[in-house]
Amino acid sequence: MTSKPKTLNSDFYKRTRLPLLEADTMPTECYTSRDFYNLEIKKIFYKVWNFIGRADLVPEIGDYYAFDFADVPILIVRGDDNKIRAFANSCRHRGAKIASGEGNCNAFSCPYHGWTYSLDGHLKAATYMDRTKGFNKSDYGLVPLRLEQWGGFLFVCFDNNAEPLEHFLGDLPELMRPYDLDRLRCTRRQEYSLQCNWKIYIENAMESYHVPWVHNKTLQKQKRDHNPPILPINGEYSGLLTRHKGSRALLPGMEGFPYIPTLTGDSAEGTYYILINPSTMLGCTFDTVWWLELHPEGPEQTKLIVGSCFHETTTARDDFEHIVQNYYKRLNISIVEDNEISELQQAGLRSPFAQPGRFSYMEPLVHVIDNWVLDRVLSD
Ligand code: FES
Ligand SMILES: [Fe+2]
Repeated sequence: MTSKPKTLNSDFYKRTRLPLLEADTMPTECYTSRDFYNLEIKKIFYKVWNFIGRADLVPEIGDYYAFDFADVPILIVRGDDNKIRAFANSCRHRGAKIASGEGNCNAFSCPYHGWTYSLDGHLKAATYMDRTKGFNKSDYGLVPLRLEQWGGFLFVCFDNNAEPLEHFLGDLPELMRPYDLDRLRCTRRQEYSLQCNWKIYIENAMESYHVPWVHNKTLQKQKRDHNPPILPINGEYSGLLTRHKGSRALLPGMEGFPYIPTLTGDSAEGTYYILINPSTMLGCTFDTVWWLELHPEGPEQTKLIVGSCFHETTTARDDFEHIVQNYYKRLNISIVEDNEISELQQAGLRSPFAQPGRFSYMEPLVHVIDNWVLDRVLSD
């Protein structure tokens, strides 16, 4: 009889499963092992609704955007009916990627043998196929992928049996209602290639313990709650509300924009940091919403996309381009600081001598994230 590899044995994780102040951090293999990573892809990223940015990635009819997510080539396109669709970006002839990068077109022509697909995925033309027996073009459209939207954000799901996005998000749309998300505009989208596991980055995004060290010349100067409580939730997310004055998206002394006009209640008193499971962080402060979107690309490789959004009444201002530079500058500095520490953590965890550590009371969501991942990975 062969025994299970240790990464599949729930006993291996039992110290991480203890309550926060008794628990160990994740076994180091969770950040370095190809086997563990493959399980995460299969049991998490191929099952959930994955955040992939905003609808203004493809603002006009015929606009498309092609990218890989968790090793799946995806094509997003706005059709003649103005509907945004997602397809597997794999030709139905012999599988080549039919589109790359972004652009605008009337139809997609495969670069290999010219099979041509309409914007809604139907196969329109395939030359030299007229002698092929029983071949009907209508059977060879692009494979559709599930795509749904909330507040202008796009999500794709690879599992046809998964619950609708609305159920997945639970009460998050209600919590975020004051931010008037449908009327936000994405004004900048930055990509970074990181040499670290995706969990390292999202764990970092959801704790403020590191701020005095990693951001000692920047974010540390913002006045902040020492240890904000984690939110009660109902849905596939977790989060914190920190109460403070002044935008979190600026450094002290920087000029900013007026606040989003619809903020009320808690949203008018602080900043929400929301993790949409598994790998997207929304930062929602008085004058802007920004996001960190992580695409797993290997056990020690992650793509980070940072998006900046402002309310349409703000982007319409004459001084928008001038003042928004302050927001970009703050993000540019803090993101690089977090990128560097995340890669240093990965480099240390890669050592054969690295060992699990212990949690501070300042890191409750790191423990929540790690146990959510284990719940999924160890499930049957
Ligand atoms: S692989 Fe696309 S036309 Fe042949
Ligand atoms: Fe940070």
